[in-house]
Amino acid sequence: MAADMGGDSVLWEADDASSRVESQNISNTRAMDPALSDEDLGIDRSLRPKRLEEYIGQSRVKENLRVLIEASLQRNETMDHLLFSGPPGLGKTTLATVVANELGVNIKATSGPAIERAGDLAAILTNLEPGDVLFIDEIHRLNHSVEEVLYPAMEDYFLDIVIGKGPAARSLRLDIVPFTLIGATTRTGLLTGPLRDRFGMAFRLDYYSTEELADIVMRSAGKLGVGIDRDGALEIASRSRGTPRLANRLLKRVRDFAEVKAQGYINDTIAAEALSFFEVDELGLDIMDNKILSLLTQTFAGRPVGLNTLASALGEDAHTIEDVYEPFLLQKGLIDRTAKGRVATKRAYDHLGIRYPMD
Ligand SMILES: Nc1ncnc2c1ncn2[C@@H]1O[C@H](COP(=O)(O)OP(=O)(O)O)[C@@H](O)[C@H]1O
Ligand SMILES: [Mg+2]
Repeated sequence: MAADMGGDSVLWEADDASSRVESQNISNTRAMDPALSDEDLGIDRSLRPKRLEEYIGQSRVKENLRVLIEASLQRNETMDHLLFSGPPGLGKTTLATVVANELGVNIKATSGPAIERAGDLAAILTNLEPGDVLFIDEIHRLNHSVEEVLYPAMEDYFLDIVIGKGPAARSLRLDIVPFTLIGATTRTGLLTGPLRDRFGMAFRLDYYSTEELADIVMRSAGKLGVGIDRDGALEIASRSRGTPRLANRLLKRVRDFAEVKAQGYINDTIAAEALSFFEVDELGLDIMDNKILSLLTQTFAGRPVGLNTLASALGEDAHTIEDVYEPFLLQKGLIDRTAKGRVATKRAYDHLGIRYPMD
Protein backbone atom coordinates (compact mmCIF):
# COMPACT_ATOMS: atom_id res chain seq x y z
CA MET A 1 0.00 0.00 0.00
CA ALA A 2 2.70 2.45 -1.02
CA ALA A 3 1.40 5.96 -0.94
CA ASP A 4 1.92 8.00 -4.07
CA MET A 5 1.46 11.24 -2.28
CA GLY A 6 3.89 11.54 0.55
CA GLY A 7 1.28 13.52 2.43
CA ASP A 8 -0.58 10.28 3.01
CA SER A 9 2.07 9.28 5.49
CA VAL A 10 0.97 12.02 7.83
CA LEU A 11 -1.20 10.30 10.36
CA TRP A 12 -2.68 13.38 11.87
CA GLU A 13 -2.07 17.04 11.85
CA ALA A 14 -3.58 20.04 13.45
CA ASP A 15 -3.14 23.71 12.91
CA ASP A 16 -5.61 25.33 15.21
CA ALA A 17 -4.14 25.88 18.64
CA SER A 18 -7.30 25.05 20.53
CA SER A 19 -8.44 22.02 18.59
CA ARG A 20 -5.08 20.58 17.75
CA VAL A 21 -5.52 17.46 19.74
CA GLU A 22 -9.15 16.89 18.81
CA SER A 23 -8.37 16.84 15.12
CA GLN A 24 -6.32 13.65 15.27
CA ASN A 25 -7.58 11.08 12.89
CA ILE A 26 -8.75 8.24 15.08
CA SER A 27 -8.38 5.35 12.71
CA ASN A 28 -4.93 6.47 11.71
CA THR A 29 -3.80 6.96 15.26
CA ARG A 30 -4.87 3.41 15.88
CA ALA A 31 -2.17 2.36 13.42
CA MET A 32 0.36 3.59 15.95
CA ASP A 33 -1.06 1.56 18.79
CA PRO A 34 -3.07 -1.44 17.65
CA ALA A 35 -3.91 -2.35 21.23
CA LEU A 36 -6.23 0.61 21.61
CA SER A 37 -9.97 0.37 21.06
CA ASP A 38 -11.86 3.29 19.55
CA GLU A 39 -13.26 4.14 22.92
CA ASP A 40 -9.88 4.19 24.59
CA LEU A 41 -8.60 6.42 21.84
CA GLY A 42 -11.46 8.83 22.33
CA ILE A 43 -10.58 8.92 26.00
CA ASP A 44 -6.89 9.33 25.27
CA ARG A 45 -7.62 12.33 23.11
CA SER A 46 -10.06 14.03 25.39
CA LEU A 47 -7.84 13.61 28.44
CA ARG A 48 -4.59 14.63 26.83
CA PRO A 49 -3.08 17.67 28.57
CA LYS A 50 -2.56 20.57 26.18
CA ARG A 51 -0.15 22.75 28.11
CA LEU A 52 2.98 22.06 30.11
CA GLU A 53 1.34 23.10 33.37
CA GLU A 54 -1.38 20.48 32.90
CA TYR A 55 1.17 17.77 32.23
CA ILE A 56 1.56 15.92 35.51
CA GLY A 57 4.85 14.44 36.74
CA GLN A 58 8.17 14.11 34.82
CA SER A 59 9.26 17.30 36.59
CA ARG A 60 12.88 17.23 35.46
CA VAL A 61 11.87 16.79 31.82
CA LYS A 62 9.32 19.57 32.13
CA GLU A 63 11.82 21.97 33.70
CA ASN A 64 14.29 21.36 30.90
CA LEU A 65 11.65 21.75 28.23
CA ARG A 66 10.37 24.96 29.77
CA VAL A 67 13.84 26.49 29.46
CA LEU A 68 14.27 25.30 25.87
CA ILE A 69 10.84 26.57 24.87
CA GLU A 70 11.30 29.91 26.61
CA ALA A 71 14.70 30.41 25.00
CA SER A 72 13.47 29.60 21.54
CA LEU A 73 10.49 31.93 21.92
CA GLN A 74 12.68 34.75 23.19
CA ARG A 75 15.23 34.37 20.42
CA ASN A 76 12.51 33.73 17.90
CA GLU A 77 14.44 30.67 16.77
CA THR A 78 13.30 27.23 15.77
CA MET A 79 13.68 24.82 18.66
CA ASP A 80 16.25 22.08 18.63
CA HIS A 81 15.19 18.55 17.68
CA LEU A 82 14.01 16.46 20.62
CA LEU A 83 13.96 12.75 21.30
CA PHE A 84 11.51 11.26 23.80
CA SER A 85 11.97 7.69 24.92
CA GLY A 86 10.18 5.41 27.33
CA PRO A 87 7.64 2.57 27.48
CA PRO A 88 4.23 2.98 25.79
CA GLY A 89 1.59 5.12 27.46
CA LEU A 90 3.93 7.35 29.49
CA GLY A 91 3.07 10.51 27.59
CA LYS A 92 5.53 10.87 24.69
CA THR A 93 2.92 11.80 22.08
CA THR A 94 1.19 14.04 24.59
CA LEU A 95 4.43 15.84 25.38
CA ALA A 96 5.10 16.42 21.69
CA THR A 97 1.71 18.11 21.27
CA VAL A 98 2.31 20.09 24.46
CA VAL A 99 5.64 21.37 23.13
CA ALA A 100 4.02 22.44 19.84
CA ASN A 101 1.23 24.19 21.75
CA GLU A 102 3.71 26.02 23.96
CA LEU A 103 5.69 27.11 20.91
CA GLY A 104 2.48 28.14 19.18
CA VAL A 105 3.25 26.11 16.07
CA ASN A 106 1.56 23.34 14.08
CA ILE A 107 2.32 19.71 14.70
CA LYS A 108 2.29 17.07 12.02
CA ALA A 109 2.55 13.51 13.20
CA THR A 110 3.59 10.36 11.50
CA SER A 111 5.43 7.21 12.45
CA GLY A 112 8.53 5.34 11.35
CA PRO A 113 6.69 2.44 9.70
CA ALA A 114 4.22 4.81 7.96
CA ILE A 115 6.98 6.47 5.95
CA GLU A 116 7.72 3.86 3.35
CA ARG A 117 9.90 5.70 0.90
CA ALA A 118 12.34 8.60 0.92
CA GLY A 119 9.89 10.49 -1.29
CA ASP A 120 7.18 10.20 1.36
CA LEU A 121 9.39 11.94 3.87
CA ALA A 122 10.46 14.56 1.32
CA ALA A 123 6.80 15.35 0.68
CA ILE A 124 6.11 15.75 4.39
CA LEU A 125 9.16 17.95 4.93
CA THR A 126 8.44 20.23 1.99
CA ASN A 127 4.91 20.79 3.30
CA LEU A 128 5.99 22.14 6.69
CA GLU A 129 5.63 25.75 7.66
CA PRO A 130 8.57 27.51 9.32
CA GLY A 131 8.98 26.41 12.93
CA ASP A 132 6.50 23.52 12.70
CA VAL A 133 6.93 20.41 14.79
CA LEU A 134 7.20 17.15 12.90
CA PHE A 135 6.48 14.26 15.24
CA ILE A 136 7.77 10.84 14.22
CA ASP A 137 6.55 8.07 16.48
CA GLU A 138 8.47 4.79 16.58
CA ILE A 139 11.34 6.61 14.96
CA HIS A 140 13.60 3.60 15.46
CA ARG A 141 11.57 1.85 12.78
CA LEU A 142 12.45 4.23 9.93
CA ASN A 143 13.99 2.40 7.04
CA HIS A 144 17.53 3.21 6.07
CA SER A 145 16.88 5.17 2.87
CA VAL A 146 14.31 7.33 4.66
CA GLU A 147 16.70 7.94 7.54
CA GLU A 148 19.38 9.17 5.15
CA VAL A 149 17.02 11.87 3.88
CA LEU A 150 16.45 12.97 7.44
CA TYR A 151 20.11 13.64 8.29
CA PRO A 152 20.71 16.78 6.17
CA ALA A 153 17.13 17.89 6.80
CA MET A 154 17.74 17.86 10.54
CA GLU A 155 21.21 19.32 10.37
CA ASP A 156 20.98 22.02 7.74
CA TYR A 157 17.37 22.05 6.56
CA PHE A 158 17.90 20.72 3.07
CA LEU A 159 17.09 17.56 1.16
CA ASP A 160 19.42 15.66 -1.09
CA ILE A 161 17.18 14.23 -3.78
CA VAL A 162 18.49 11.81 -6.36
CA ILE A 163 16.76 12.04 -9.72
CA GLY A 164 17.05 9.33 -12.36
CA LYS A 165 18.92 6.06 -12.25
CA GLY A 166 22.35 4.73 -13.16
CA PRO A 167 24.84 7.01 -14.93
CA ALA A 168 22.14 9.60 -15.64
CA ALA A 169 21.34 10.02 -11.95
CA ARG A 170 21.71 13.53 -10.63
CA SER A 171 21.57 14.82 -7.13
CA LEU A 172 19.46 17.84 -6.39
CA ARG A 173 19.63 20.02 -3.32
CA LEU A 174 16.28 21.28 -2.09
CA ASP A 175 16.05 23.76 0.76
CA ILE A 176 13.30 23.29 3.32
CA VAL A 177 12.07 25.53 6.11
CA PRO A 178 13.52 25.29 9.63
CA PHE A 179 11.49 22.83 11.68
CA THR A 180 11.67 20.91 14.94
CA LEU A 181 11.71 17.16 14.75
CA ILE A 182 10.37 15.34 17.79
CA GLY A 183 11.07 11.64 17.70
CA ALA A 184 9.56 9.08 20.04
CA THR A 185 10.87 5.61 20.70
CA THR A 186 10.34 2.91 23.24
CA ARG A 187 14.08 2.51 23.63
CA THR A 188 16.88 4.87 22.63
CA GLY A 189 19.17 1.89 22.18
CA LEU A 190 17.20 0.94 19.07
CA LEU A 191 18.20 4.14 17.26
CA THR A 192 21.19 4.26 14.95
CA GLY A 193 24.09 6.37 16.26
CA PRO A 194 23.97 8.97 13.46
CA LEU A 195 20.27 9.60 14.04
CA ARG A 196 20.65 9.82 17.80
CA ASP A 197 23.49 12.32 17.40
CA ARG A 198 21.29 14.72 15.45
CA PHE A 199 18.91 15.38 18.32
CA GLY A 200 19.73 18.43 20.40
CA MET A 201 18.27 16.86 23.52
CA ALA A 202 17.07 13.42 24.51
CA PHE A 203 14.59 12.89 27.33
CA ARG A 204 13.71 9.65 28.98
CA LEU A 205 10.24 9.40 30.49
CA ASP A 206 10.02 7.31 33.63
CA TYR A 207 7.18 5.40 35.20
CA TYR A 208 4.96 7.69 37.29
CA SER A 209 4.67 7.50 41.06
CA THR A 210 1.39 6.37 42.58
CA GLU A 211 0.75 9.92 43.83
CA GLU A 212 1.29 11.37 40.36
CA LEU A 213 -0.99 8.78 38.82
CA ALA A 214 -3.63 9.56 41.42
CA ASP A 215 -3.38 13.23 40.36
CA ILE A 216 -3.88 12.13 36.76
CA VAL A 217 -6.88 9.97 37.72
CA MET A 218 -8.43 12.85 39.68
CA ARG A 219 -7.91 15.21 36.75
CA SER A 220 -9.37 12.72 34.27
CA ALA A 221 -12.34 11.97 36.53
CA GLY A 222 -13.02 15.70 36.69
CA LYS A 223 -12.97 15.94 32.90
CA LEU A 224 -15.22 12.89 32.53
CA GLY A 225 -17.59 14.05 35.25
CA VAL A 226 -16.97 10.98 37.40
CA GLY A 227 -17.33 11.17 41.19
CA ILE A 228 -14.25 9.79 42.95
CA ASP A 229 -12.38 10.36 46.21
CA ARG A 230 -8.62 10.48 46.67
CA ASP A 231 -8.47 6.94 48.10
CA GLY A 232 -10.36 5.62 45.10
CA ALA A 233 -7.92 7.41 42.81
CA LEU A 234 -4.96 6.01 44.76
CA GLU A 235 -6.34 2.50 44.45
CA ILE A 236 -6.61 2.83 40.67
CA ALA A 237 -3.20 4.54 40.53
CA SER A 238 -1.45 1.80 42.45
CA ARG A 239 -2.61 -0.77 39.92
CA SER A 240 -1.75 1.20 36.78
CA ARG A 241 1.79 -0.06 36.12
CA GLY A 242 3.13 3.46 36.54
CA THR A 243 1.43 4.35 33.24
CA PRO A 244 -1.03 7.23 32.66
CA ARG A 245 -2.69 5.58 29.69
CA LEU A 246 -3.50 2.56 31.80
CA ALA A 247 -4.65 4.71 34.72
CA ASN A 248 -7.16 6.42 32.42
CA ARG A 249 -8.29 3.13 30.97
CA LEU A 250 -8.77 1.57 34.40
CA LEU A 251 -10.65 4.64 35.57
CA LYS A 252 -13.10 4.06 32.77
CA ARG A 253 -13.55 0.37 33.62
CA VAL A 254 -14.03 1.22 37.28
CA ARG A 255 -16.54 3.91 36.39
CA ASP A 256 -18.64 1.37 34.48
CA PHE A 257 -18.53 -0.96 37.46
CA ALA A 258 -19.38 1.83 39.91
CA GLU A 259 -22.34 2.90 37.83
CA VAL A 260 -23.85 -0.53 38.16
CA LYS A 261 -22.85 -1.20 41.78
CA ALA A 262 -22.48 2.11 43.58
CA GLN A 263 -24.47 4.86 41.87
CA GLY A 264 -21.37 5.83 39.97
CA TYR A 265 -19.26 7.00 42.91
CA ILE A 266 -15.74 5.58 43.18
CA ASN A 267 -14.09 5.04 46.55
CA ASP A 268 -11.25 2.65 47.41
CA THR A 269 -13.52 -0.33 48.13
CA ILE A 270 -15.39 -0.02 44.85
CA ALA A 271 -12.14 0.55 42.94
CA ALA A 272 -10.51 -2.53 44.48
CA GLU A 273 -13.59 -4.64 43.83
CA ALA A 274 -13.86 -3.47 40.23
CA LEU A 275 -10.19 -4.05 39.51
CA SER A 276 -10.17 -7.59 40.85
CA PHE A 277 -13.28 -8.17 38.78
CA PHE A 278 -11.32 -7.06 35.70
CA GLU A 279 -8.35 -9.23 36.71
CA VAL A 280 -5.92 -6.43 37.46
CA ASP A 281 -4.06 -7.46 40.59
CA GLU A 282 -2.71 -5.35 43.47
CA LEU A 283 0.57 -4.69 41.70
CA GLY A 284 -1.24 -3.68 38.53
CA LEU A 285 -0.08 -6.83 36.78
CA ASP A 286 -2.37 -7.99 34.04
CA ILE A 287 -2.89 -11.44 32.60
CA MET A 288 0.18 -11.22 30.38
CA ASP A 289 2.50 -10.12 33.21
CA ASN A 290 1.26 -12.94 35.39
CA LYS A 291 1.71 -15.41 32.55
CA ILE A 292 5.34 -14.34 32.23
CA LEU A 293 5.87 -14.83 35.96
CA SER A 294 4.19 -18.20 36.03
CA LEU A 295 6.25 -19.38 33.05
CA LEU A 296 9.48 -18.37 34.78
CA THR A 297 8.55 -19.82 38.14
CA GLN A 298 6.61 -22.92 37.13
CA THR A 299 6.90 -23.98 33.50
CA PHE A 300 10.65 -23.36 33.44
CA ALA A 301 10.92 -24.12 37.16
CA GLY A 302 13.22 -21.21 37.98
CA ARG A 303 15.80 -21.87 35.26
CA PRO A 304 17.01 -18.75 33.37
CA VAL A 305 14.94 -18.29 30.21
CA GLY A 306 16.13 -16.56 27.03
CA LEU A 307 14.00 -13.83 25.49
CA ASN A 308 13.13 -15.80 22.38
CA THR A 309 12.14 -18.88 24.34
CA LEU A 310 9.95 -16.72 26.50
CA ALA A 311 8.43 -15.07 23.45
CA SER A 312 7.50 -18.31 21.77
CA ALA A 313 6.11 -19.78 24.98
CA LEU A 314 3.87 -16.71 25.30
CA GLY A 315 3.01 -16.47 21.63
CA GLU A 316 4.13 -12.84 21.79
CA ASP A 317 6.64 -10.80 19.84
CA ALA A 318 10.07 -10.64 21.53
CA HIS A 319 10.29 -6.86 21.06
CA THR A 320 6.92 -6.37 22.70
CA ILE A 321 8.02 -8.38 25.70
CA GLU A 322 11.24 -6.41 25.93
CA ASP A 323 9.67 -2.97 25.43
CA VAL A 324 6.26 -3.30 27.05
CA TYR A 325 6.29 -5.98 29.71
CA GLU A 326 9.83 -6.41 30.97
CA PRO A 327 10.63 -2.81 31.95
CA PHE A 328 7.80 -2.77 34.44
CA LEU A 329 8.52 -6.23 35.85
CA LEU A 330 12.17 -5.23 36.22
CA GLN A 331 11.27 -1.95 37.86
CA LYS A 332 9.02 -3.77 40.33
CA GLY A 333 11.84 -6.16 41.15
CA LEU A 334 9.81 -9.16 40.01
CA ILE A 335 12.29 -10.39 37.42
CA ASP A 336 16.02 -10.17 36.88
CA ARG A 337 17.97 -10.20 33.66
CA THR A 338 21.02 -12.40 34.05
CA ALA A 339 23.64 -13.31 31.46
CA LYS A 340 21.89 -16.64 31.01
CA GLY A 341 18.38 -15.26 30.68
CA ARG A 342 15.40 -13.99 32.62
CA VAL A 343 14.65 -15.27 36.10
CA ALA A 344 11.84 -14.56 38.54
CA THR A 345 12.86 -13.04 41.88
CA LYS A 346 11.69 -14.04 45.33
CA ARG A 347 9.22 -11.20 45.16
CA ALA A 348 7.57 -12.85 42.14
CA TYR A 349 7.21 -16.16 44.00
CA ASP A 350 5.71 -14.33 46.96
CA HIS A 351 3.35 -12.48 44.66
CA LEU A 352 2.15 -15.71 43.09
CA GLY A 353 1.90 -17.33 46.50
CA ILE A 354 4.31 -20.13 45.68
CA ARG A 355 7.39 -21.21 47.61
CA TYR A 356 10.72 -19.70 46.58
CA PRO A 357 12.95 -22.67 45.65
CA MET A 358 16.07 -21.06 47.17
CA ASP A 359 14.49 -20.77 50.63
N1 LIG B 1 1.94 13.64 32.22
C1 LIG B 1 0.66 13.36 31.96
N2 LIG B 1 -0.32 13.99 32.64
C2 LIG B 1 -1.60 13.68 32.41
N3 LIG B 1 -2.02 12.74 31.52
C3 LIG B 1 -1.09 12.09 30.83
C4 LIG B 1 0.30 12.36 31.00
N4 LIG B 1 0.99 11.56 30.19
C5 LIG B 1 0.11 10.83 29.52
N5 LIG B 1 -1.15 11.13 29.90
C6 LIG B 1 -2.37 10.46 29.43
O1 LIG B 1 -2.02 9.17 28.95
C7 LIG B 1 -2.40 9.02 27.60
C8 LIG B 1 -1.31 8.28 26.85
O2 LIG B 1 -0.21 9.12 26.64
P1 LIG B 1 0.58 9.13 25.24
O3 LIG B 1 1.17 10.49 25.09
O4 LIG B 1 -0.29 8.66 24.14
O5 LIG B 1 1.72 8.07 25.56
P2 LIG B 1 2.88 7.50 24.61
O6 LIG B 1 2.90 8.36 23.38
O7 LIG B 1 4.13 7.61 25.42
O8 LIG B 1 2.54 6.08 24.32
C9 LIG B 1 -2.66 10.43 27.10
O9 LIG B 1 -3.71 10.47 26.19
C10 LIG B 1 -3.05 11.21 28.32
O10 LIG B 1 -4.44 11.14 28.51
MG1 LIG C 1 2.43 7.67 21.47
